[in-house]
Amino acid sequence: MAKKIIFDTDPGIDDAMAILFALAAPELEIVGLTTIFGNAHTDLATQNALRLLAFAGRDDIPVAHGAPQPLQRVFDRPADFVHGANGLGGVYLPDPVLQPDPRPAAQFIVETVMQHPGEITLVPVGPLTNIALALMLEPRIVERVAGVVLMGGAATVNGNVNPAAEANIWNDPHAADRVFTAGWPLVMLGLDVTMQVAMDDAYLASLRSSRFGEFIYDITRFYLDFHRQVHGEYACHTHDPSAIAYLIDPTLYTVEHGPVRVVTEGLAAGQTLMDRRGEWYSPNAWTPYRPAGVCTGVDAARVLELYRARIVDSQTMEN
Ligand code: BDR
Ligand code: CA
Repeated sequence: MAKKIIFDTDPGIDDAMAILFALAAPELEIVGLTTIFGNAHTDLATQNALRLLAFAGRDDIPVAHGAPQPLQRVFDRPADFVHGANGLGGVYLPDPVLQPDPRPAAQFIVETVMQHPGEITLVPVGPLTNIALALMLEPRIVERVAGVVLMGGAATVNGNVNPAAEANIWNDPHAADRVFTAGWPLVMLGLDVTMQVAMDDAYLASLRSSRFGEFIYDITRFYLDFHRQVHGEYACHTHDPSAIAYLIDPTLYTVEHGPVRVVTEGLAAGQTLMDRRGEWYSPNAWTPYRPAGVCTGVDAARVLELYRARIVDSQTMEN
């Protein structure tokens, strides 16, 4: 049976790549998209989520509009230098015809999880504000979810905003610490693994035989230019699609276990700090919390093959 997921997202080029991947995967059923600021302001993220579902012919899937701001910080700078002013690399889809779900994202998450106990996996791939708000609204979702599989953080490598922080965690570290310490089964796919999987131009061109792949090729032009400027290579890292790859096939990843706290203030704000030392140390601020699964290794070739298989094989140009 397909795993039910709520995909919490800030589309976003790699968010769009992940949404199409999930839609193309028979292993997964998206029961809703919830939106958040990050790559764009939340209003634009919601419009893009609706646009993407219409493009995919799946506007039966509800979209719930999320928080416009972090719990305590001020968000004022979308990552338009990475994703373009429209969030989709300057590729324009028609304006949405449908409206978002009337419920705010946190309420949508709570009601959906409570209606399907044990069935829903939350898959946040943006700042964790909506998930933290859902926890505050209804703490019992901790026992009612199947789990949380998120893209964010950096446990064994530097961040991408600064040496300490990855962008999703940086944008709302207070929310992230609540999510990592909530006590639910949680798996983190951070820069540790997402930067090990590179999609180069030839790979992206190889997706173009499908309608989804053609769109992915088009939106990644802007993304590749950004990566070339910053990393010197004409290839992009595989951030948000990694969460979907893990859900489809966890054996693609090596997972370490340890409690993770998020630094919320100071120079290292936004850092995801995992206790990797084992259990013999004296009690500390990590000790009371359920260990997270943190992905630290990945079979990059198999992730790329899985992504191509789902994007190309399940949605050919004729469909
Ligand atoms: C994360 O930040 C966003 O820009 C991407 O969509 C991804 O979720 C990578 O650091
Ligand atoms: Ca994202």
